[in-house]
Amino acid sequence: MRTLNQILNEELNLYLTTWNYHWNVEGAQFAALHDLFAQQYGALQPLIDELAERIRALGGRPETDVVVRIDGARSAPQMLAALAEAHESLSRKLRQEAIPEFESSGDPGTVDLLTRAVQLHDKAAWMLRASAR
Ligand SMILES: [Fe+2]
Repeated sequence: MRTLNQILNEELNLYLTTWNYHWNVEGAQFAALHDLFAQQYGALQPLIDELAERIRALGGRPETDVVVRIDGARSAPQMLAALAEAHESLSRKLRQEAIPEFESSGDPGTVDLLTRAVQLHDKAAWMLRASAR
């Protein structure tokens, strides 16, 4: 359950950071980024809920331990880069560590959920990178 709780907390961190940037973003791209960030934290919320409920379904307890100190004064390019890196880092961790772990323990239900998480993070990272160009 430790792996799933670690991912849950990283997802919550990214969710809160994206929501904060939705409020704090400034500049010529304000409207587009304000909307993009809203779309992205909105997509993370049901994933986080599903992850926590999967932990319960497996007999565990979601353990939230989240302290998120966010520099809301960052520039829009810094926000885009930070979010893209966070999505890419989570995607990599899921692909390289979490999914192989649940594949080897014979848990296709969790593998499916984590695979959908990879798809979400890869798509979000693409949109953030494309917006930064
Ligand atoms: Fe809003």
